[in-house]
Formats: sequence, C-alpha cells, structure tokens
Amino acid sequence: MEAHLVDWRKRHFGKALAVAFPASTAAVAQIVKLCAHHRVPIYPQGGNTSVCGGSVPDAAGGGIVLNLRRMNRILSVDARDNSMLVEAGCVLAQVQEAARAVDRLFPMSLGAEGSCQIGGNLATNAGGTAVLRYGNMRDLVLGIEAVMPDGTIWNGLRALRKNNSGYDLKNLFIGSEGTLGIITAAVLKLFPLPQHNVTALIAVPSIEDAASLASDLQSGFPGLVSAMELISSSELELVIRHIPDTARPLPTQAPWYVLTEMAGADDAAAMSDRLTDLLEAPLAAGRVLDATIATSERQRQQLWHIRHHVTEANVKEGMGITHDIAVPPARIPQFVRLAEAALATRFVNATPVVVGHLGDGNLHYIAMFSHGDWAATADKPACTAAVNHLIYDIAAELGGTFSAEHGIGSIHIAEMERYKPPSELALMQAMKRTLDPLGIMNPGRVLPPAPPAAA
Ligand code: FAD
Ligand code: LAC
Ligand code: ZN
Repeated sequence: MEAHLVDWRKRHFGKALAVAFPASTAAVAQIVKLCAHHRVPIYPQGGNTSVCGGSVPDAAGGGIVLNLRRMNRILSVDARDNSMLVEAGCVLAQVQEAARAVDRLFPMSLGAEGSCQIGGNLATNAGGTAVLRYGNMRDLVLGIEAVMPDGTIWNGLRALRKNNSGYDLKNLFIGSEGTLGIITAAVLKLFPLPQHNVTALIAVPSIEDAASLASDLQSGFPGLVSAMELISSSELELVIRHIPDTARPLPTQAPWYVLTEMAGADDAAAMSDRLTDLLEAPLAAGRVLDATIATSERQRQQLWHIRHHVTEANVKEGMGITHDIAVPPARIPQFVRLAEAALATRFVNATPVVVGHLGDGNLHYIAMFSHGDWAATADKPACTAAVNHLIYDIAAELGGTFSAEHGIGSIHIAEMERYKPPSELALMQAMKRTLDPLGIMNPGRVLPPAPPAAA
C-alpha cells in the first residue's frame, strides 16, 4: 500500500486499513455503503499528485484509500458535439491524446499530466497553463457522475451547454477535494484543435516589464494567447541544474522570463512575424532584453519541458515553502515587490523562486531553503507558518487569495480559518453536514472541524 500512503513530494505520510481499487461506479457505491455502515473514513485518491497533502490519509490509520486508477476508460468521444465521456480514473494525458485523435483539443495542461487523473483535476478544480484562454477545470466540464457519502449514485452526465433546471449540482463537487463525494465519471468539453501555434521565451528586466508585455501580447493577439507563464531566473537556474536534457534557452541572463504561446488558424510563420513585430518596440526601449521563438515542434517541446519540470527541480534543490497565491493580474508586480522585500528582511536564508501563471494573476511564490539551512532550522512548523503569513497577508492586502489552483488539502486549514469570513465557512460547513452527516468523506481536508450544531 506504500505508494498510496505518501504524497509525491514525500512530505505527508499516512496510514490506512486498506487501499481499494474499484473498477466500476457500482463497485465504488458498494464500498462507500459498506464504509458508511461501519463509519470508516474514505480518502479518495487519483494520481496522488496533490501538492497540499490532500491525497493521502492522515496518520491515525482508521480509514481506507479509494483509488480510481482502474476506472480509466474513455467511454465515448463526440467530435460533432465537442464532448467526451470518460471515467474519473483516466489520466489527463490519455484524455488529451483521445481528443487529438479526433482532431479536437482538451486544453487542460499541467506538469503532472502524465499521472494526474480527471477525477483529481475535477476534485481540485485544477488550473494549469491554458486557463487564460480556456478556463480552469470547472469551465471544461459539462456533466459529472458522483457517488454520495451514503453510497447513492448521482448521474449528472449530461452533455448540455445550457441547463438551468435548478441548482447546478456538479459545481458542488468540482473543487470540493473529495469531501462531498467521489467523482466517478465526467462529460468533458472539447475545442477545435488550433492549426498552428507560435511559442516564445522572452527575457525581461523587471516584473513590471513582464506584466506590460503580458498585456501587450494579449492585445496584439486578441483571443489567441493560450499561455502566459512567468519564470524567475532563480527558477530557470534550478531546472537547468537538476533536470536532465535541459539547456539554457537564451544566452541573455535576465531576472524574469515569460513563456508564451499563441495558437490559431494563421500559419505559424505569419504569427511568428507578428510576434517579432510586436517585440520590436519593447526591445528597442530595453523593456525586453532578448527572445527566442521556437522554429520547430522539438524546440517548442524543449521550452515546455523546462516549464513542466519546475516542481521536480524545486524538490531536488531543497526545502521550498511553496505558495499558490492569486491577485488581480495587474497587481502582480506590486505583489512581487512587496514579497521580495518582506522575505529579504525577515528570512535572509530564503531565496525567492517564482513560477506561475502570469496571465491569470496566479504565482507560485516559493521561499527556497537549502537542505542544510532547513536542517538547521530549529522550529520548522513555526518557520513555515511565519513565511506563510508573510506571503498570504500580502496577497490578502492586494485583494487576493492564498489558494488559487492547488486547493486546501490538509495543509491550509489554518488559512481557511484566518482568511475566510466566518459566514462563508459556516455555509461550507452546513453543506458538508448536509451531504456527509457522518463525516466519513475525506475527513480533515478543506474545512476546520465545525462547531456543534445548535440544539
Ligand atoms: P490527487 O492528488 O490524487 O487528489 C487530489 C485531491 O482530489 C484529493 O483531495 C483527493 O481526495 C481528491 N480526489 C482525487 N480523485 C478524486 C475523485 N475521483 N473524486 C473525488 N475526489 C477525488 N495543479 C494545478 O492546478 N495546476 C498546475 O499547473 C499544477 N501543476 C502540477 C505540477 C506537478 C509536477 C505536480 C506534482 C502537481 C501539479 N499540480 C497542479 C497539482 C495536482 O497535480 C493537481 O491538483 C491535480 O489536478 C491532482 O490530480 P490527481 O489525480 O493527482 O489527484
Ligand atoms: C505549476 C504547478 C506547481 O504551475 O502548479 O507548475
Ligand atoms: Zn501552477
């Protein structure tokens, strides 16, 4: 069971009575009924790529892990309706491939796409690198099927673009991180496969220039920008140091890099020319220092290889106290300046390593400690909490959030209490009590324990 009791970054170690691998919705329902009868907690698990301790049980060991990996069938693909019916244990890359096979795009893309599952993507309302154009997981789904905490099967597998017949129940489950039920299947939205794309890595001298570039490129390619990612020089160095088959993509060293991709019907040469024209003025003004435009699919893949391996590089480098903040996109420069200054004043041993989804206003702001410095840190939980408060308070002051796309899992419960208005928490707890009165579904995730209900 070991592989299912420890998370990908090896930060959370749990125990369980058993790991169940059901192969059908009916089997999931039977297991849930049995667990409800015996009050046994259930920890739903997909690809186990959670970065917030959501996918492994706690150390008490009284529950079971319910892993969806055997439910991995693509049940149907409808190119005319632009939809696809899949079981929740399908791996994301498998779904992308099945869409491509009928000349369609399933746009969700992230570093863990070779192992994360559609059910996990839905349960966390995953983001990734194409949110700017296509939205997050919530925007990419038409219907879901879920097994409720009492074992009832709710079949909401409709392929409708419009359906205002009452509350939109699927949205309750999306982003609920397995605390309200188990997602067993989904109808996903497909899109036309763009004919051509242009991908570029652009070096800029400041975070302000990165933000203006993002805005200029979106105006210059209206509706066509599918990625606008930010990479700090410290992050690029870590990828080059730790990940095989990576080379420095630009000779110029710059504090910040923007990885962008535009996709459309124009041929690649025309889009590349347009991008070159758009970069001319900022290059002349020193607001862009250098740029490389991929001229082959291989070069494009090399740029994405760098982007998709940041987490792996960070894990190899040291102990990163990671953050997944979002602010309104125009406030990103302000956030970065404030965080940089605060970290430099309070935590001299921490290097800021930054990567994220610039176009969405969502950054992974990482305070990186070397293995040695971290080992020498006396009170690690207190240090982590202090860094977290510093970063999250800045995001909150700028109208932002402490959790943009990774979710709450087991590690951000304190932040839920600190930053969520009590009325919002109470509403969530009321929903949890209604759907899961026994409290057996992924206990200890997302919500702090509810105060006892009034008599
Ligand atoms: P798991 O990690 O197994 O589970 C995640 C949560 O969902 C848990 O709470 C679990 O209980 C619940 N769950 C899983 N399956 C089900 C189900 N069928 N029904 C109900 N609940 C379920 N996230 C992003 O948003 N954007 C990124 O760019 C991104 N990049 C990443 C890159 C790397 C290298 C890694 C390791 C992670 C990244 N993540 C990212 C985080 C993570 O991959 C995503 O959140 C992913 O969607 C989780 O899917 P999973 O199948 O691995 O779920
Ligand atoms: C990323 C993950 C960490 O954006 O969300 O690479
Ligand atoms: Zn991300």
